Amino acid sequence: MTRHFLRDDDLTPAEQSEVLDLAARLKEDRFAAQPLAGPQTVAVIFDKTSTRTRVSFATGIADLGGSPLIINPGESQLGAKESIADSARVLERMVAAIVWRTYAQAGLEEMAAGTRVPVVNALSDDFHPCQLLADLLTIREHKGTTSGLTLAFVGDGSNNMAQSYLLAGATAGMHVRVATPAGFDPDVQVVTDASRIAERTGGSAAVLVDPAEALHEADVVVTDTWVSMGQEEEKAARVAAFAGYTVDTALMAHAKPDAIFLHCLPAYRGLEVAADVIDGPQSVIWDEAENRLHAQKALLAWLLEANAKETA
Ligand code: CP
Ligand code: NVA
Repeated sequence: MTRHFLRDDDLTPAEQSEVLDLAARLKEDRFAAQPLAGPQTVAVIFDKTSTRTRVSFATGIADLGGSPLIINPGESQLGAKESIADSARVLERMVAAIVWRTYAQAGLEEMAAGTRVPVVNALSDDFHPCQLLADLLTIREHKGTTSGLTLAFVGDGSNNMAQSYLLAGATAGMHVRVATPAGFDPDVQVVTDASRIAERTGGSAAVLVDPAEALHEADVVVTDTWVSMGQEEEKAARVAAFAGYTVDTALMAHAKPDAIFLHCLPAYRGLEVAADVIDGPQSVIWDEAENRLHAQKALLAWLLEANAKETA
């Protein structure tokens, strides 16, 4: 069975830790792993726009000795003029891996089911697992560990980042608290899955309404846009619904004094986060953005090795 990375819990706790260890090593020695030497091509397909994901995958694939093939929104037949299954069968004849940013998680599952090369979720409506690997690497760097730490997410509990924090945070042994207004809860199954993982890792998963309660004594504070890609027409209603959920200095005061602040970016200063928090001394957002590169290189190298062992 080909290993893919479609959601955060596709890696076990031990595997997630291995990938993060490798990411730290590749950050120290950027060209140490060359699994794509040839160069072999990796298809990086975007149905939604991107800055960080696009640049970090393109750079990382080149660092690994490979050649990135970036396919921008509207540039391929995928999904529109050709089925996902047919595209998957064509791509696997040529590329070493498929990285895809899309809408429906079901599309990624269909792609993965139809191909022998690893498929990586570069953001879907439901999850953003590559971002979480970068976030966990950043937390390790600043806090020394992830295990036992409390992470508070404030904002849209139903979005891809909140759901990925639940799964990846639980996998990393963290206590994850999501604070979100009524009507924006994460998917019940995701919370159940996170809680089940947390039972093994010593973490926990909780959904709350009050942001101050979520931040109480937290080690890590995170937020994300209130208006995810594809929701642009709902912007006015969403800005109204999330009133009171801005991460500002008053809210940050509920967290531990040495708490760090993360945001996957792009950010909207004055909406989900105040400028003096995101640009302040607790913010580690630039390390977080850089770590996309190291984490994704580690993930690709790990998946390629796992699949080589599988077929050996
Ligand atoms: N955080 C993130 O995925 O950024 P992009 O949308 O710019 O890729
Ligand atoms: N929740 C955001 C994340 C962007 C990286 C979105 O899906 O637009």
